[in-house]
Amino acid sequence: MAYVGESGSRVVRPLTKPHPSGARPPTVAAERLPRHVAVIMDGNGRWALGRGLPRSAGHEAGVSAIVEAVDGALEIGLGQISVFAFSTENWRRDPGEVECVLRVIRQLLLDHGESWYARGVRIRWSGRRDRLTEPLAGTLREYERRTRDNDGMSLTVCVDYGSRDELVAAAAQLCEEVRAGTLALTDVTDAEFGRRLFHPDLFDVDLVIRTSGEQRLSNFLLWQSAYAELFFTDVLWPDFDRLDLWRAIEGYASRTRRFGAARGVG
Ligand code: IPE
Ligand code: IPE
Ligand code: MG
Repeated sequence: MAYVGESGSRVVRPLTKPHPSGARPPTVAAERLPRHVAVIMDGNGRWALGRGLPRSAGHEAGVSAIVEAVDGALEIGLGQISVFAFSTENWRRDPGEVECVLRVIRQLLLDHGESWYARGVRIRWSGRRDRLTEPLAGTLREYERRTRDNDGMSLTVCVDYGSRDELVAAAAQLCEEVRAGTLALTDVTDAEFGRRLFHPDLFDVDLVIRTSGEQRLSNFLLWQSAYAELFFTDVLWPDFDRLDLWRAIEGYASRTRRFGAARGVG
């Protein structure tokens, strides 16, 4: 695929690796594609325990599923995907497991960030900025900076992310602005609130995918997913591949959304 770079020069984007079976994405009309897909990548621990391996092996195996999901998202032409990598509640785990998950996230960026960059992906970090150790925080910031002018798919990596945390921060900011007199209380609206989220330019989530058979949101993108369609699969995250992603998207494309109206919208 070729595009014209900012300098006006023709840049050739490397191709995404195809699925080993040669499978191609289903044809979904552009207006039926979800504009933003959010993925709760769950089941690494159970995947490992089922093989008699330590939980850390599950987190390591989960990396290739992320790479696979990004490839699948690029192939089908998604605009925005957010992946839940580490929650504000995951600090409750064993320190050794926390260390492993965070190390694996950094390694994922070091190993694949350049390839995503070259394919036009814009990488963002959503989450608290004050608790991660510098090697990981620095790597996340570096890839945000490096890819910020990319105009291809947006990949938001949610690390030390919790929706309540994000909502409380937005509320606190609004309170501060009202107190300082820069915002009138009567101007506190849904839209103004949304503008104070971590990444206000991202679309609302249209489709939430959760693996591992659990059917809950676990504090992920609660505001953004207010009207999202939900897709649950029993597949454990390390076994997830792009065919699962495409199945979820095809299912989404055939659903009727109402947004409170009596008839389907869109
Ligand atoms: C998801 O897999 C990864 C993180 C939450 C960091 P889990 O580690 O939650 O796997 P299970 O749910 O215990 O199987
Ligand atoms: C949600 O999974 C968080 C991530 C996928 C990063 P968890 O495994 O932490 O969620 P619960 O505890 O089962 O709700
Ligand atoms: Mg879990």
